[in-house]
Amino acid sequence: MAYKKGKLISIFSTKGGVGKTVLTLSMAGIYSNLGKKVLILDMDFVSGGVGVSLGVSSKRSIYNFVDDLNNKRYKEFEDYISKYNENIDVIISPIDPRESNKIESKFVDMILGIAVKKYDIVLVDTNHIFSDNNLILLDKSDVTLLIVTNDPIDLKNMKSLISIFKDSEKSNYKVLLNNSRDTDKDYLTNFDIKNIIKNNIDYTISSSFHIKDIDKYTLNREILTLNKKILSKKKGDIKKITQMARDLINIENGGDRNDKEKSS
Ligand SMILES: Nc1ncnc2c1ncn2[C@@H]1O[C@H](COP(=O)(O)OP(=O)(O)OP(=O)(O)O)[C@@H](O)[C@H]1O
Ligand SMILES: [Mg+2]
Repeated sequence: MAYKKGKLISIFSTKGGVGKTVLTLSMAGIYSNLGKKVLILDMDFVSGGVGVSLGVSSKRSIYNFVDDLNNKRYKEFEDYISKYNENIDVIISPIDPRESNKIESKFVDMILGIAVKKYDIVLVDTNHIFSDNNLILLDKSDVTLLIVTNDPIDLKNMKSLISIFKDSEKSNYKVLLNNSRDTDKDYLTNFDIKNIIKNNIDYTISSSFHIKDIDKYTLNREILTLNKKILSKKKGDIKKITQMARDLINIENGGDRNDKEKSS
């Protein structure tokens, strides 16, 4: 029997604070505007920020999901979902950071497997650790978006990660250079960056997407790419994020299921 299979997109980096969470939420906003059903899974188990950023509160986090699976108490997926809007659902990271150590990757694997059958897009925000859980996620993802900044240490570590990917013949990743996090970091040219990481830069978010009062949007529980002012003032980067979002779901099988259905 045919079943729905959405795209699993992981957002990963080799350094913290490079803009993963902001970009994950921004992509969710774009997919939501494209009419896609999106799940954001916060796999930054110790210091996840998706729940707070979106103002969704749930008594049940991914830890409870794992714990219930482990103890055969799991009934339905919806029990662990918080709703942000009509198209965006969220599974939050553990409420107590100590619970992060009790999340076994075999259950994360199961949750990802269920999620892709329920959503068009599953976006997974991560931390930058090479943990078993992140390795399972990278392995299972349809595509991984690797975020780098114009920072020599970040780039050196990304070079190592990409070389591991290449050694293991993993090619379903894309590299995004995020210039919006720190606008004054422009010491290395794109040519230098490509030389350091020994890889192409697939997407660039420009320094124009730096939002000075970004915390205001967070406090208002707003997704940047759903805010009218941002949409009109940051047209160039919104276009780039939209193009990237479309590109990422067209990577495998020659196209996105829904787009195909619409055009046929
Ligand atoms: N476009 C932007 N404009 C202004 N500030 C930004 C932008 N993108 C990210 N930031 C800020 O940079 C910091 C790091 O961003 P973010 O939390 O998205 O990174 P991260 O990679 O998820 O970090 P962590 O590894 O700690 O989870 C945050 O304070 C965020 O508000
Ligand atoms: Mg983050």
